Amino acid sequence: MNAPIIHQPKGSNAAWVERRTKAVSRGIGMAAGVMVAKAENSEVWDIEGNRYIDFGGGIAVVNTGHRHPTVMRHVYEQLEKVTHTCAMVMPYAPFIEVCEKLNAVAPISGEVKTALVTTGAEAVENAIKFARCYMGRSDVIAFHGGFHGRTLLGMALTGKVAPYKLKFGPMPAGIWHVPFPIAHRGITVEDSIHAIELLFKADVEPSRVAAIIIEPVQGEGGFYVAPKELMQALRKLCDDHGILLIADEIQSGFGRTGKFFAMEHMGVEPDLMTVAKSLAGGFPLAAVVGKAKIMDAPDPGGIGGTYAGNPIACAAALGVFEVFETEGILAKSVRQGEIIMQRLAAIKAKGKGMAMGDIRGLGAMCAFDVVSKHGGQEPDAAATKALTVKCLERGLLILSCGVYANTIRLLTPLTASEAVLHEGLDILEAAIVGN
Ligand SMILES: Cc1ncc(COP(=O)(O)O)c(C=O)c1O
Repeated sequence: MNAPIIHQPKGSNAAWVERRTKAVSRGIGMAAGVMVAKAENSEVWDIEGNRYIDFGGGIAVVNTGHRHPTVMRHVYEQLEKVTHTCAMVMPYAPFIEVCEKLNAVAPISGEVKTALVTTGAEAVENAIKFARCYMGRSDVIAFHGGFHGRTLLGMALTGKVAPYKLKFGPMPAGIWHVPFPIAHRGITVEDSIHAIELLFKADVEPSRVAAIIIEPVQGEGGFYVAPKELMQALRKLCDDHGILLIADEIQSGFGRTGKFFAMEHMGVEPDLMTVAKSLAGGFPLAAVVGKAKIMDAPDPGGIGGTYAGNPIACAAALGVFEVFETEGILAKSVRQGEIIMQRLAAIKAKGKGMAMGDIRGLGAMCAFDVVSKHGGQEPDAAATKALTVKCLERGLLILSCGVYANTIRLLTPLTASEAVLHEGLDILEAAIVGN
């Protein structure tokens, strides 16, 4: 999240924002100063009854929409049975069923196992624990612009200083960063691979590196799609040096890119994957999924957590899987991505109002840059913030991201109707071209 607050709250929203300011830590950001009262599929309403089309999806959490009826049915049924025993104390069926489903859909060949946890950052932390434990090695390579969470290790792996690392140091040792290829900034796949080779010469011997962690499509960093050639070169480099490849699919997973996982576009497999966000359609659940021999390396009790794989969250995830199985969500993702990319290209082609830079995406994981002049590349963070304000005031919630805070990312629920999708894009277009 980039901007702390994006508009001047009004009415009873303002009173709540004031209470929030007094009661809540300043360190927790707030993208929109409106208090949500109700949410359904791709729409939310605030406490004043104002309607917003949601192109933020709770930051990539509701790919199957807010409160999908199937997800809610699973949740209500589970509420009547058991809400907590702690899976490490007395297990329950939904926990095991979610692991089985994740093992089946993971793009990893051979025997696969899963460990459920609660948040994305926790999944990342545990992926590194699995990698270290199996490999008997310590270090990890990550990428500039990558985002892996706000815990100590998560922020150390994250490749962006402000606000994630600012004044929170020192960082845990043994984490190295290399450039992520960005064609329009002149950073190539060769540059990234060369940087790793240099790292092996200058900073750390490959035999000390347990894993390379990468988002197949960077999320918070600006929706940059990892070129297939990069992923293939990383796979080879990992194989050559006996290093594990971890795909962080927390933002790019669960249908967002038109496939279940973005790694399916890449032609190579990771050894471990992290998933969270849209896994449970609005309930806190995350997982590490990986090759069974790696997942079985820690001793019992070394992995887990009191709430890890909570029964309600697991029931919700089973609902999400059912929605994927019955509602053609992947085809909807491909279609949504096509519509968004066509509309964004058409808006940019008008060359009016705010200047749009690079437009990019994979499936329905789409974004564009806001730049200082038409045809230019210079990031314009102020204009980006202004655009989010304008859209919110007109009833569209959009989120910014990016190392330069000038990227608008679209994370519309994949279940949104085409009518609502176009309605949202109309608001966006009017806000950009200045109507
Ligand atoms: C790629 C990626 N990894 C990790 C995380 C951290 O997840 P959480 O916020 O659930 O801890 C995020 C959250 O945005 C993410 O996008």
